[in-house]
Amino acid sequence: MNEAEMRALLVRLAASLFARGFSVGSAGNISVRLSEGGYLITPTNSCLGSLVAERISKLDADFQHVGGDKPSKEVFMHRAFYTGRDDAGAVVHLHSTQATAVSCLPDVDRGNPIPPLTPYFVMRVGRRMPIVEYYRPGDPAMEPAIHAAARDARAVLLANHGPVVSGKTLTDAVYAAEELEEAAKLYLMLRGASPRLLTPGQVDDLLATFG
Ligand code: 13P
Repeated sequence: MNEAEMRALLVRLAASLFARGFSVGSAGNISVRLSEGGYLITPTNSCLGSLVAERISKLDADFQHVGGDKPSKEVFMHRAFYTGRDDAGAVVHLHSTQATAVSCLPDVDRGNPIPPLTPYFVMRVGRRMPIVEYYRPGDPAMEPAIHAAARDARAVLLANHGPVVSGKTLTDAVYAAEELEEAAKLYLMLRGASPRLLTPGQVDDLLATFG
């Protein structure tokens, strides 16, 4: 996919997330690695519902701003995934309600708060998704913490803030962010019940088959 096509896809997927309430106001940011080199990232304070393709920020391979509007103040959050994971081709950060709710709970397993409830959560988000401690939005101090967590997790939950999800492609990262929100919803619905979880063998089978 060339840069113009990627800009158009980013506008379309971001608008879809916004239309379905995964993001409100100017919350969230999305980036994607370009096959020609460098990255696209949503501009700071932009609304995911009304991005303009030509105004999406462009970064060079060193994450320096080289085109479009001023980039998200959380470029470093995205960089933490790209430098931490060879398989990261896109990163989606949302403040989606149910995942953010889980990030606020004090009594969850901070190494992996949402258990393997469904196959698609495991297939898209992976074996584990740790909570990264709270930092002020835009605080670059969160980069090393995310980088360390991202080494063995495709996604993290920022405490009292929201999810950051990587994927091989932009579409993969968006789908993973959606599955994460649905899994968070199920987890919250089932809190207090004792749901049957996928077994470790079933999780291994899913990751071996769908990776
Ligand atoms: P930006 O508008 O700078 O991308 O920040 C939005 C956000 O989601 C902060 O966490």
